[in-house]
Amino acid sequence: MKEPKQLSVSAIQNGTVIDHIPAKNLFKVIQILGLDRFDNQITFGTNLESKKLGKKAIIKISGKYFADDDINRIALVAPDAKLNIIKDYEVIEKKVVEVPDTITGIARCVNPKCITNFESVTTRFKVVSKKNVALKCYYCEKITNQENLQII
Ligand code: CTP
Ligand code: ZN
Repeated sequence: MKEPKQLSVSAIQNGTVIDHIPAKNLFKVIQILGLDRFDNQITFGTNLESKKLGKKAIIKISGKYFADDDINRIALVAPDAKLNIIKDYEVIEKKVVEVPDTITGIARCVNPKCITNFESVTTRFKVVSKKNVALKCYYCEKITNQENLQII
C-alpha cells in the first residue's frame, strides 16, 4: 500500500517555501538571506530525501515574500532552489532562482593578494558565466569559479 503523502515540515498559511536546497548548504542560505535576524515564524527541515539532490533541505518563512533580487542571492549555493509563494494555504506561484549579473558580498575572491582578502572591503564580482559559475573580481579582475568558490 502506498503511504499517504505526509509533510515533514508543516504547511504554512502565508509566506514563502524554499524547496530543493542542497542539505549541505542550508545554513549558507539562512546566512545569505539573513534569516537569523527575522522575527517571522520560520521552520525548516534538512537531510530530507530527494531524488534529484540526494539530501535536500526546505525552509518555510511565514508572512514573508522576497524581492527577486534578494532571493536570487542564494543561487550560488542553491542553484536548483524552487520557490513556492503561499497565500491562504495555496501555492499561488512557483519560481526558480537565477544567478544575478553581479554579486556583492557572499563569495570570497580566490586571489590571496586581493584587497578584499586583507582589508575590510566587501567583495564585488561581475558574473561572467552563470552555468558553471565564474565570478570576475571588480577589484583585482581574477576569476573565481565553482571549484574555488568559498562563501563568506
Ligand atoms: N507548502 C506549504 N504550505 C502550503 C502549501 C505548500 O508549506 N500551504 C509546501 C509543500 O510542502 C511543498 C511546497 O510548498 O514543499 C510546494 O507545494 P506543492 O506545489 O503542493 O507540492 P509539490 O507538488 O510536491 O511541488 P513540487 O513538485 O513543485 O516540489
Ligand atoms: Zn579580487
